[in-house]
Amino acid sequence: MRRGSLIQLAAIGLIAGAIATAVALLVPWLPPAGGKEANRIHFVYWFTTVICIGVFAVVAAVLSYSVWKFRVKPDDDSDGPPTHGHTKLEIVWTAVPALLVTAISIVSAIVLAQNSHAGANPLVVKVTAQQFAWTFTYPNGKTYGYLTLPEGRHTKLRITSNDVIHSFWVPELSQKQDAVPGQFNSLVLTPTRTATYPVICTELCGLGHAVMRSHVDIVAAGKFDAWLRSAGQPSGSPGLAVFQQNGCGGCHTLKSAGANGMVGPDLDKLKQEAAKANRGPLAAFIHESIVKPDAYLEPGYKNLMPPNFGTQIPADKLAQLVQYLAGQAK
Ligand code: CUA
Repeated sequence: MRRGSLIQLAAIGLIAGAIATAVALLVPWLPPAGGKEANRIHFVYWFTTVICIGVFAVVAAVLSYSVWKFRVKPDDDSDGPPTHGHTKLEIVWTAVPALLVTAISIVSAIVLAQNSHAGANPLVVKVTAQQFAWTFTYPNGKTYGYLTLPEGRHTKLRITSNDVIHSFWVPELSQKQDAVPGQFNSLVLTPTRTATYPVICTELCGLGHAVMRSHVDIVAAGKFDAWLRSAGQPSGSPGLAVFQQNGCGGCHTLKSAGANGMVGPDLDKLKQEAAKANRGPLAAFIHESIVKPDAYLEPGYKNLMPPNFGTQIPADKLAQLVQYLAGQAK
């Protein structure tokens, strides 16, 4: 190959590589990494992307150069010269990609192993998914409708489901993990900055899938210990705690509970809804709506309530919840 041709080939390759690099760098493909695992996954992503850009530049250069230089002349209907391939070239274009793919595999395997390592003393939080809410249970037995994690400490989530398959995902912390009924799947998170991120269900799980969201508050380690000691003390009514522990706010709006779910009826309008339903005293109507949700449906809503609240929520807690909701109905 002549020197001039090589320079042309290299120039095309550099331009193609520069365009691909601009697309990679100028578009914000990934959310900012909020944890150690996310940092490692981002590293794998960029490691792979750099290799891909290199391969793309070489292929684009050879392809464009060939189309440009070896284009058939007008009215030239003759066959091209017979060629028998090029053994050295074929060895190179087999060996180099093989090496690159092997490198990506090794880096990925190391990151996967590191990301599932929870250290000697992780905080263990049980995560329960159900249509359409998340609940989080801490080692002290307290349960919340949102997740609070300490910064800089390994947390091992043990993820399960009460009904269908869901999937736990915090985009800024990377990694997804399925929530499967009857088993516990682990996910290790090590947040590196204090922030609030969304918790998203990322497995189609029914009509309320798109709104099956919660959030994770990442707080300084010292603040977390204080929170764990103090949180769950009856800050409002015990009924409010039951409301939060069962993830009711995932689907319902109730201002006093800070809930703004849109899947189920608006509980701030409970009194009007109960009057419309005309099914006896308010408390009895609320109780029935929780344990036998299909007995009466507010017009415009489908029955998406978990069918097992009657057995899942202990009777005394259920009474507190009914009392709390009846008290909110103005
Ligand atoms: Cu739960 Cu989608």
